[in-house]
Amino acid sequence: MQTTQVTDGVFRLSANVHDILFEGMWPIPHGFSMNSYIVKGDKVAIIDGVCDWDGTPEVLFDQFKQMDVKAEDIDYVIINHMEPDHSGWLKDFKKIRPDFKIVTTAKAKKLLEAFYEIENETIVVKSGDTLDLGDGRVLAFEEIPNVHWPETMATFDTKSGALFPCDAFGAFGAITDSPYDDQLSQDEIEFFEEEATRYYANIVGAYSAPAKKAVMKTESLPVKIIAPGHGIVWRKNPQKIIDDYKRYAAYSKGPAKEEITVIWGSMYGNTEQAVAPVVEGIKSEGVKVNVHRVPETHYSYVLRDVWNSSGVVLGMPTYEYKMFAPMAVVVDEMGRKKAMNRKAFRFGSYGWSGGAQKELDEIQERYKMGWDFLEPVEFNGAPSKEELDLIYQRGKELAIQVREWVRGEA
Ligand code: FEO
Repeated sequence: MQTTQVTDGVFRLSANVHDILFEGMWPIPHGFSMNSYIVKGDKVAIIDGVCDWDGTPEVLFDQFKQMDVKAEDIDYVIINHMEPDHSGWLKDFKKIRPDFKIVTTAKAKKLLEAFYEIENETIVVKSGDTLDLGDGRVLAFEEIPNVHWPETMATFDTKSGALFPCDAFGAFGAITDSPYDDQLSQDEIEFFEEEATRYYANIVGAYSAPAKKAVMKTESLPVKIIAPGHGIVWRKNPQKIIDDYKRYAAYSKGPAKEEITVIWGSMYGNTEQAVAPVVEGIKSEGVKVNVHRVPETHYSYVLRDVWNSSGVVLGMPTYEYKMFAPMAVVVDEMGRKKAMNRKAFRFGSYGWSGGAQKELDEIQERYKMGWDFLEPVEFNGAPSKEELDLIYQRGKELAIQVREWVRGEA
């Protein structure tokens, strides 16, 4: 991968990863980038880094060579966020540059010792502090706690107007040697928007209140460029990703888009019979519907669509007096990630006894999810014609509720 110039005196370095589960759990079929930035005044700073997976730090070091930068030329290592996808390279860096100087928050300093036993000279900074690199380039720091760990901060280059917010404004998806919004087609921008939504729902969603505060802080700065730790760099239209993140944060409490996500699982095809009627009921009102079967679809994608949706349908049988287990996992994950206040409906088959409702109520209560359910339709064994008609009607009713809520008519 080639090093590229973001703007005068600011350079982007990056490493892509593929064929892993990010954080050990999230699929990344289109890869994932970790971005790092070199900022040059009279002194040189590197902002953020990459993970320590096999060969990844070497990708970064190769890019130093492309820029004719040596490890000893770097005066400051600025650590916005300590999660190892950004900090893992430090152990390898220390081997070639033992005495590097760190700029970070007090909480991150503790983590540096815990994760890597690094106790190098550290300039501890907080919101409003600055670092003068010389040649008119002053970096300003702004704490943005919990986007995505408590120690996180953003760095702002007052000379160029480039903001380095690390996880905030990031996206899944590997990037190429053309990583700037002004170099990408509309299709490519839309691809990264989809990957940004999934990234947000999977990684940042649980911290939507802090994310909203971070966006507000961003808007108080004269930002011209957004250079995140993951995904593309926004220098033509940074307001787009700011507006997108505002929307994503707001979707946590709802309403989100005028969409409904139907999630279903079935053991012997009885619950499955009711999926088509509920989908048809929703479509009859012209509301967009996303359909996912679990566990076949990974909850990463289900969560992305639920994040975008103002309505959710859960179709599942009772299993051992409880919810169909893969559905329990998915709904629990939605609670953890704070997909709150959805309009909802549940249907499903039971044999000798129900029980799914009790566990669903427990999960809803545990996470204070606040979903507003229509009366459920449970059927003994296979659904009758009357029950299928009722499920169609519930789909229609849910679609009407969603439309009215999103349009402010409810
Ligand atoms: Fe990209 Fe929270 O690390």
